[in-house]
Parts: sequence; structure tokens; C-alpha cells
Amino acid sequence: MPLNAEELFSERALGFKPSAIREQLKLIDTPEIISLSGGTPDDQFFPIDRVIEASTFALRQYGKKALQYGSTEGIKKLRVLLMDRMEKEGVNSIDLDNVIISTASQQGLSLLAQIFVNPGDTVIVEEPSYIGALQACASMQAKFCTVALDKDGMRMDALEDRLKELQKAHIRPKFIYTIPNFQNPVGVTMTLERRKKLIELANKYDLLIVEDDPYGEVRFEGEPIPSLLALGGKDHVVALRTFSKISFPGLRLGWIVARKDIMDKIVLGKQAADLCSPSLTQYIAYEFISRGWLDEYVAVVRREYLKKKNAMISALEQYFPAGASWTNPQGGLFVWVKAPEHIDTTAMFPEAISAKVAYVTGIAFYPHRDDNCHMRLSFSPVDPEHITEGVHRLGDLLKSKI
Ligand SMILES: Cc1ncc(COP(=O)(O)O)c(C=O)c1O
Repeated sequence: MPLNAEELFSERALGFKPSAIREQLKLIDTPEIISLSGGTPDDQFFPIDRVIEASTFALRQYGKKALQYGSTEGIKKLRVLLMDRMEKEGVNSIDLDNVIISTASQQGLSLLAQIFVNPGDTVIVEEPSYIGALQACASMQAKFCTVALDKDGMRMDALEDRLKELQKAHIRPKFIYTIPNFQNPVGVTMTLERRKKLIELANKYDLLIVEDDPYGEVRFEGEPIPSLLALGGKDHVVALRTFSKISFPGLRLGWIVARKDIMDKIVLGKQAADLCSPSLTQYIAYEFISRGWLDEYVAVVRREYLKKKNAMISALEQYFPAGASWTNPQGGLFVWVKAPEHIDTTAMFPEAISAKVAYVTGIAFYPHRDDNCHMRLSFSPVDPEHITEGVHRLGDLLKSKI
């Protein structure tokens, strides 16, 4: 008799849902389709020779240590380097005990969900929000309380309304999850005023904020805005950062900043999850950063992504029908498009694939799966010429439906 694994799966695992993006990516793995869907960095800019040099040096210099298990917290000199980097951004309330290397941000999200969320607990999220964060919380059987976004990021009036409602119902949310810079999927950035208000509300209602910021350094226009961690300190903020978008996701490295009592639990959770992040890539990252190559690489990314973003916005203006609208981000990877009234972007997806262009359906980013009029377009992995062509194809498809 073959084993029936269904009978053995935990309730948690039975509730797992596939990521719509990964499912959609499977359909578009053919070169004729212009894919504006993946949130991946453009690998043509990866400085392979420098990575080879940093890797060779790391292996020669740290050989056995680089190939060995490391401490759960991560390699000390890398953590010190990251702490110094954050200090330059105005984060000065932390020391080494507050910084841990994670297996990129997704692990940070999954550890936080694990240490805070009991089945049925409430987590406050922006609507729409990053799928991976929703998945991490949903896998711990969280309930989502959603807060609308506008061009200035999470709406603080809506958040305050939600907090009052929750308080009335005697529900204490476990944390507020926000992506303040170039939000995934919407591309908007929370203003300084709203960041201050968020810190104020976190203090007033005694709440924890999870600040997920993979894109802040990928700013190609405008002035940087201080992080929630810099503004509010670590008492009410846990910060997640990653190398994935400022360098290479293949490193699978990120870092978490948290106060000591929370960090102690994160360390225990990480021990259970993977013991430690890869020593080898940590040494490579250390060499890459300390030679100044990360900063040089980020400068290239900013310059090139601005060209891509401009190509996308110009093409949207030229080819999309009246009634469509979109965000115009100052950084990051994504433009969020609202289709003209009555066009269902989920139903249209197979037609887009037939027209040889792909996007991510807006519904994927809604915890309650109730939006069918948006699509996320990513400009990062495609060159400007193909961005223009892809948007042209999509525009024609939309016009054919009006
Ligand atoms: C907002 C956000 N957080 C976290 C991640 C996870 O990235 P990684 O695990 O590669 O650091 C992503 C990836 O796209 C993201 O957009």
C-alpha cells in the first residue's frame, strides 16, 4: 500500500498555498515571451569577474573556516561591516548583539512569523503586500488585518482606524509588516511624515513594527528617507535587510536587526531552521563589500534601472488606453498598474501569454484575494527595448477589450 501522506500532513501544511508568481513563472519559461513579471535583478550587470576574485580570495584567506559551519549569528566581521553601513544611514542605537546574518530576508520573515504567530493571531499588513511575507505568516496560520496604501505609502488614518477596531475587539496584533521603500508590488514609498506617525502609533498602542527593506538602496531618483529603525530605534522596530536586490540573490544572505530579547528567540529559531547561513557566501560578501565593490555595483544598478523605469513609464504613456493608471517609483523594481474599468487582469492573463507578454496578476498580492483590476510590472530583468515592446503588446491587448 502506498503511504497516504495527506493523512500525515500537519494542519499548517494542509493550509499551504502555492505562490501565484511561481505558478505563473512556470507558464512563461519560453524566450519569445517578454516577461515583466519576475522581481529578479538584471543579471547582465552582475560583476562576475569581481565575484570570482572575491570568492578566490575568500577561499585562499579563510579556506577552512569558509567551508566549515559558522556561528548561528553569522561571521563577526561581516556583521560589524553591516552595522557600520547602517550607522551611516542614521541607525546608531544598535550593537553587534542586535545584528544577525540570515539566509536572506525570506528567512527573516519566516523566523518572525514562527516566533510571534500562534494560529489565529492577527498580523497587520499593507494591502497589497509582498507574497512571500503573506505566505510566511499564513504558514503559521495568521489572520491578516489589511491597511490600504496610497502614493505616500501605508495610510496612517486607515491604520489608526484598524488599531481602534482591534482594540475594541480586544485583539492585540503581533506586528505591523511594512515595506516602506518602493513597496512590492506597488512601488510607492512611505513619506517621512507617515514614518514618524507610524512610530508614534507603535508607541501609543505598544506595537511591534517589522520593517522589510530590500529596495531602499535601489533608489535612482529623489532623496533617501530615514528608515523606521533610524527614526524609532529598535524598541518597537525589527528590521530586515538583504543582499538580494543590492547585489546577488544567489548569495542567499540578509541580515536582521532586533533588540536583544527578540534576537534571542530569532537565534533559537534559526538554529532549528538551518543552524547557520553559508559561511562561504558570507566571506565572499565581506570581501565584496570591504573592497568598495558593493557601492560601485549599486551605483550601476541605480543608473541602469532608472533607464528601464523611464522606458516603462514612457511606453505606458504611449501604448496604454485611457482609463489605465500606474505608479511612478523613484526606486526599486516595480510599477503597479490599474487596468481600465471592467478589465479583469486575472482572466486576461492567458491572453497575455498568447500575446507573448507576462505580468503578475494583482490578486496574488491580496491576502483576501479580492482584487482583479491590477497587475504588477517589473522593469528590472528586461532591457529597455523589450520593456517598450512588452508594454506595447499589453497595451494592444487592453485596447482590444474596451
Ligand atoms: C519585500 C520583499 N521582502 C523580502 C523578499 C525576499 O528576498 P530575499 O529572501 O531574496 O532576501 C523579497 C523578494 O522579492 C521582497 O520583495
